[in-house]
Amino acid sequence: MLKRIILCLIASLSIGGCASRKEADMRKTQSLKDAYADYFLIGNIVSGVDMDDLRYNILTTHHNIATAENAMKPQYLQGTKGVFTFVDADAVVNKAVSRGLKVHGHTLAWHQQSPAWMNSEGVSRGDAVANLATHAKTVADHFKGRVVSWDVLNEAIADNPPNPEDWRASLRQSPWFKAIGADYVEIVFKAAREADPTAKLYYNDYNLDNPSKAAAVYNMVKDINERNPDVNGRPLIDGVGMQGHYSTHTNPANVENSLQRFISLNVEVSVTELDVQCGEGGKQTDDQKITQGLAYAALFNVFKKYAEHIGRVTMWGIDDGSSWRRQACPTMFNDSLRPKPAFFAVLDPDKFTAENRMFIEKREKKETKQSEAVYGTPDLTNAAAWSQAPAIFIDSYLTAWQGASGTAKVLWDENNLYVLATVNNAEMNKANRNAYEQDSVEIFIDENNEKTPYYEKDDAQYRVNFDNEATFNPSSAAEGFESWTSVSGRSYTVSLKIPFRTISAEEGVLIGFDAQINGASAQGARQSVAIWNDLSGGSYQDTSGLGVLKLTKR
Ligand code: XIL
Repeated sequence: MLKRIILCLIASLSIGGCASRKEADMRKTQSLKDAYADYFLIGNIVSGVDMDDLRYNILTTHHNIATAENAMKPQYLQGTKGVFTFVDADAVVNKAVSRGLKVHGHTLAWHQQSPAWMNSEGVSRGDAVANLATHAKTVADHFKGRVVSWDVLNEAIADNPPNPEDWRASLRQSPWFKAIGADYVEIVFKAAREADPTAKLYYNDYNLDNPSKAAAVYNMVKDINERNPDVNGRPLIDGVGMQGHYSTHTNPANVENSLQRFISLNVEVSVTELDVQCGEGGKQTDDQKITQGLAYAALFNVFKKYAEHIGRVTMWGIDDGSSWRRQACPTMFNDSLRPKPAFFAVLDPDKFTAENRMFIEKREKKETKQSEAVYGTPDLTNAAAWSQAPAIFIDSYLTAWQGASGTAKVLWDENNLYVLATVNNAEMNKANRNAYEQDSVEIFIDENNEKTPYYEKDDAQYRVNFDNEATFNPSSAAEGFESWTSVSGRSYTVSLKIPFRTISAEEGVLIGFDAQINGASAQGARQSVAIWNDLSGGSYQDTSGLGVLKLTKR
């Protein structure tokens, strides 16, 4: 008996809690880094040396590589020209290394968290080049031997670039770009390679599940590596980092397509900043916890499939409470540091998915709504012209808040689709600089009704606010488009003329269609989103959840 108590004591000392050996073994098998030992490294962020012990224990139990959340960003390492302040970053890195973690460096060049003296405020091209190269070389040299890889350049490509074939034209108009031009990309990679030839050099970006953005990154890396095939014995860029700040609306098929694309470049791919938003105001319902778990499971099943080419999967946040997106509860551990369903989903994606089969079936049973567009060519200013068309109810909410809702009616002729949307209960606010956060109506069209997980040439999104300001995705969808709005009290109507772009419209044709109403609060923040059919929240990039309209003649 005494022996058993002593054993228990030893066990509890070594794992930090009163646990039997059985429990200790169980914890071991429940370690993420062990579960993925044959696949890839599992990472997370360190936010400072003072990170509390409990969180540091979670870090070391489940992960084998760390990224500094902020400490190695340019602003903190060289806030003043020529004055490098490595104290905090060194402490973070040394602590991680001393606890047996590998360290990934983040980041040598970025348009955020970087001091203005480096590249703005009238800095000449020559000075900007020198500043960039000096910073990258000094920092990479300083951490040489302690970091295994670097995000050399972060977020250099613009969102959804219209012509991804031309990667230079797809670059974000960042201070570095403006000061130097497109060759800043190569300059910073070359400086990093020169200073630390052994560290793997990564290009890192978000929204790489977007096919256009992924294509621009692909073209950039391909071009640079083809022109620099042998820099210290290998191509200049070693890897592409897909940040992966996702939500439960992210389609894993899009993530997989981009992964395949990058792998075809013969570079390593890593998931570098994974979190999955699913919640509001720092709270999650039980359904949201399962939905989030299933999203994590689906993503990890994709990652496992390509494990041979994946270096690491790093999460961006140990727990919801410390996450940069804490409102949306995006991590695997809750505020009390207890594992959430998402943790068990990552630990064993297949098991978690199987255990929640019923939940998935219930979700999939939801039927696609169908309605009709009636033949006719209206005057956009005359709502009565739509009287023949059945009403489509835009009243299913994507948000917890049930704000503005309404109806839509649709007509068609050989050239256009004509939508009349009537919105009630709107605060009529367009103060937010994001068009989708203003009181507005959105129409999603999938002309060939093929329900693809990404936008093809026949797919488009049209948004018109109550003040008749229109935005388009892709921007080419603006061609031939017309709209008209009228406001009365807390109601407004929007009529839209949407040209058919790829199909010939005939009686009997089915098209994918959805109508959404974005409700802003009187303070100009998005507070509600109502839609006809697609509750995935992903209709702006994925047409698989849209409802269906049949073109009819009466
Ligand atoms: C975020 C940090 O998590 C925050 O603490 C900080 O205030 C802003 O930056 N993409 C990146 C990361 O590459 O560096 C960002 O980290 C999140 C988005």
